[in-house]
Amino acid sequence: MRRSRLRTRKIGYNLIMIGPPGSGKSMLAKRLPGILPPLSLSESLETTQIHSVAGKLPRDTSLISQRPFRAPHHTISQVALVGGGNNPQPGEISLAHNGVLFLDEMPELSRSVLEVLRQPLEDRRITISRAKYSVEYPCSFMLVASMNPCPCGYYGDPTHNCACTPGQIQRYMNKISGPLLDRIDIHCEIQAVPFAQLSQMQPGEPSQMIRERVMKARQIQTERFSSLPKQVGAVKVYCNAQMTERMLHEFAEPDAASMDMLRMAMERLKLSARAYSRILKVARTIADLEGSEKVLSQHIAEAIGYRSLDRGDWAERGV
Ligand SMILES: Nc1ncnc2c1ncn2[C@@H]1O[C@H](COP(=O)(O)OP(=O)(O)OP(=O)(O)O)[C@@H](O)[C@H]1O
Ligand SMILES: [Mg+2]
Ligand SMILES: [Zn+2]
Repeated sequence: MRRSRLRTRKIGYNLIMIGPPGSGKSMLAKRLPGILPPLSLSESLETTQIHSVAGKLPRDTSLISQRPFRAPHHTISQVALVGGGNNPQPGEISLAHNGVLFLDEMPELSRSVLEVLRQPLEDRRITISRAKYSVEYPCSFMLVASMNPCPCGYYGDPTHNCACTPGQIQRYMNKISGPLLDRIDIHCEIQAVPFAQLSQMQPGEPSQMIRERVMKARQIQTERFSSLPKQVGAVKVYCNAQMTERMLHEFAEPDAASMDMLRMAMERLKLSARAYSRILKVARTIADLEGSEKVLSQHIAEAIGYRSLDRGDWAERGV
């Protein structure tokens, strides 16, 4: 696979879910490929090709038509994750190309394995070099990670006591390095639903309906960016996640009141500066999902809620 042929579109925002055991993190992750837009024919072909090279194409399948969902165990080696070997094979990140890579219990992965993820997340392709040649595989995937809120799992859970000290909690959080966290757009806190409520619940919205909303929001974004003048050599922008600072200014600028709220929230929650543009991008997407032309204060407020791990006071906030 040559560089010139690689199409490496961003699949979706990267996501980390933080919640106690049994709160449904794994279940939510598995549902994600089903709410993403269906694979296009060229994506299908590309995905099939990678699985075929890796010898992972099921015997009765000639074309992969579902977005991949890969969930390697946290004991996975670097080579198995990013690819390699004497006869360079694609790793899990390439098998997840055009789909979801689910890293359950992310802090349990070794630091070296977490570090090798950074570059491919940025480039969406990986080069494996050998003495005489190098091979390149695409790896444009949506990273979905999960973690407990603390080592025992129950920090902030209303039905269990957490036995961890603030120091232990902070050390656990620090296992995920800042630069990696910086590439994760949405931090989502999951609360367990008590069993009594769970058993009485009406069935939720089917994935197919959510997928239709996602596709509508994508269409709005495609139209937004197709009107931009083309710049030679510049990466083509087709979704909110790729917006530059200037585009944020043009398309995601909140009104004065929302801006004040954002400024206050950043100070009060001790949010880092890098959280700022993430919040605006995600707020733009929330507005698109609602079909709102303007980014409104409720969109900003929701987006602020998705930066929990940027907060400097995680281990002391006593939720
Ligand atoms: N909100 C919910 N709606 C429906 N089912 C749920 C919900 N939350 C949990 N469940 C059910 O509880 C079970 C456990 O969920 P799941 O394995 O996804 O939790 P988890 O957060 O991944 O836990 P762990 O940290 O132990 O891996 C699932 O089989 C799922 O059916
Ligand atoms: Mg799980
Ligand atoms: Zn704990």
